[in-house]
Amino acid sequence: MIKVTDLKKTYYGKVPVHALKGVSFQIPSGQFVAIMGPSGSGKSTLLHQLALLDNPTSGQILLDGVDTAGLTQGKAADFRLRHLGYVFQEYALISELNAIENAFLPLMLLGMKRKEFIRVSTELMSKVGLSNRLHHLISELSGGEQQRVAIARALVNRSKILFADEPCANLDTENKGIVLRLLRKLCDDLGQTILMVTHEPEQREFADRVLWLRDGMLVKDESIDKAVREDALHNGYRTDVSSDPDYLKDN
Ligand SMILES: Nc1ncnc2c1ncn2[C@@H]1O[C@H](COP(=O)(O)OP(=O)(O)OP(=O)(O)O)[C@@H](O)[C@H]1O
Ligand SMILES: [Mg+2]
Repeated sequence: MIKVTDLKKTYYGKVPVHALKGVSFQIPSGQFVAIMGPSGSGKSTLLHQLALLDNPTSGQILLDGVDTAGLTQGKAADFRLRHLGYVFQEYALISELNAIENAFLPLMLLGMKRKEFIRVSTELMSKVGLSNRLHHLISELSGGEQQRVAIARALVNRSKILFADEPCANLDTENKGIVLRLLRKLCDDLGQTILMVTHEPEQREFADRVLWLRDGMLVKDESIDKAVREDALHNGYRTDVSSDPDYLKDN
């Protein structure tokens, strides 16, 4: 459960920018939430505060009951590594490493034994449909495959919350569909809590709920109808009638 109360963030440059002006909401575990709003409305800022990548100016963030303001910098980094996953628009993968090495990196940092982190990351790479790409270098993967490695890496620590900032921005239609269907299935099948920033109204139909920001404020809390969601899952971002890869099929 995420509980945000009166969250404010001001960037103090030459001219202070009030990027978040007092935002409050709750997100139960297992919900897939889209965050939408015009450019500059504070979407990335909100995600950065929730993912403990930055410190808010005031207000409270509770992640599963933990008041994140009470964490020292070291504890916050540890909490992030153990419990949170972040997918960036630009993938942010390490190009010198191959796909599975990128995926297991967080587990290595957590000190897990090699045999164990290979097992866990191999399993997750198969969930995102990359079993046959484990030893490819990042530069040998398509954009959609790279973003799926980034998703595997974000989830490999069994993250309580997956944050994704415009994860489909650099993808073509087919790969957008693949990534969005994957996120929907992670939520449905594993109960993964997901917060995804997006610009495209069509993408929000894959989510359970949409938080709309404008000018640093929460202006609308929309829930997505189950029928709309299911239609998106089956028909959204289709380029042709070809069937889904195996890992996206219901079984
Ligand atoms: N590090 C920073 N220093 C100063 N101002 C910032 C900083 N980061 C963001 N801002 C400002 O805060 C406001 C909110 O930015 P934010 O990046 O959260 O918007 P966004 O909704 O994610 O926009 P976009 O859709 O373009 O990604 C903007 O006016 C932006 O210029
Ligand atoms: Mg942004």
